[in-house]
Amino acid sequence: MRIMVTGGAGFIGANFLNLLVPRHGEHHFINADKLTYAANLGSVAGIAEAENYSFVQLDIADAKAVAEAFEEYKPDALVHFAAESHVDRSIEGPRAFIESNIIGTFNLLEEARKRWGKGNGLFHHVSTDEVYGSLGDTGMFVEDTRYDPSSPYSASKASSDHLVRAYHRTYGLPVKITNCSNNYGPLQFPEKLIPVITLNAAEGKPLPVYGEGLNVRDWLYVTDHCEAIWKVVNEGRVGDTYNIGGNNEVRNIDVVKIICKLVAQRQGKPTSELESLITYVKDRPGHDLRYAIDATKIETELNWSPAETFETGFRKTVHWYLEHPEWIGQVRSGEYRNWIEKNYTNRA
Ligand code: NAD
Ligand code: DAU
Repeated sequence: MRIMVTGGAGFIGANFLNLLVPRHGEHHFINADKLTYAANLGSVAGIAEAENYSFVQLDIADAKAVAEAFEEYKPDALVHFAAESHVDRSIEGPRAFIESNIIGTFNLLEEARKRWGKGNGLFHHVSTDEVYGSLGDTGMFVEDTRYDPSSPYSASKASSDHLVRAYHRTYGLPVKITNCSNNYGPLQFPEKLIPVITLNAAEGKPLPVYGEGLNVRDWLYVTDHCEAIWKVVNEGRVGDTYNIGGNNEVRNIDVVKIICKLVAQRQGKPTSELESLITYVKDRPGHDLRYAIDATKIETELNWSPAETFETGFRKTVHWYLEHPEWIGQVRSGEYRNWIEKNYTNRA
């Protein structure tokens, strides 16, 4: 198969390619990425020379460029990761989210439907649990939970999910959708909670916690997400949605304290020294209180379960950030510094 992977230079896409390119010489993987601030080709440097891998710089919001890429690379399947992914940025400036996440997905769907014809090809859409909105203290998201997105990011992802389903029902395009909880692991851009806190703790900087730190996220190690997507690509039912989650609900403040402990152990410091850096800052507008995924469907139908526990995954992740200063240097560009200044100054 010729598999186009959009967003393959971002966090999850790069982990997906690094896992599958060496393992599946029988498939050719085409990494199609715009190379936004969130991308880093250094994240896929280890597979860049592989015979079953190609890279094309592509903005999926550009319909003509999408048509040209389909013409040149002739994919039989698409695994669609490419998106603007950071909630705080969507609050600051939603337009890029509409363009990449909605128009970009629409352009790919149009091209896939025209090229593949009814019933051919596979459009795997990678989505998020944020489309379901916020939970209270109880309950879990299942595949048919009503959509209720809170942020421009989650609304743009919800919109793209609806388009993908509509192309299946209307045009018979073979689609599959996965909605996953919060990922963590190597190669995540340091604007997200876990890399921000790890790097700040290591550097003795303030550890920004939004609101009271009581919001709950369900954390899944990134390669467990990638393996789940690959299972659905190969064994999932066409037209179906699969929820993916780690069954690891943790309050933000507890995530921050765990990171303090792991970094302190590495640096031979008392944990209390790093915990004293915790700084409560202005909350995110429309901040969802709690996410929790019920992953029973993928676990029972496709026999998927996460390989990493919260303890093993967190330790690996924190150590990875401490041991890869060259990668951190690559992604901490001028744009990164602008964002940190803008986001955290506004919250002081
Ligand atoms: P990321 O921000 O790290 O990477 C996104 C990648 O998409 C980047 O390489 C970027 O250059 C590329 N991209 C953005 N706009 C593009 C465009 N117009 N054309 C082509 N490429 C473009 O994101 P991530 O965390 O790796 O998330 C990947 C996907 O998984 C997203 O669709 C996201 O909604 C979804 N998701 C993420 C999580 C999570 O916790 N990070 C959880 C569930 C689902
Ligand atoms: O649930 C899946 C989603 O998880 C994905 O769809 C998104 O692409 C991904 O960014 C992530 O969204 P979150 O908003 O949950 O992730 P983030 O790392 O931005 O924030 C996690 C929690 O930590 C959230 O409650 C906000 C809080 N937070 C975040 C940052 C960056 C802080 O308290 N301080 C911070 O500095």
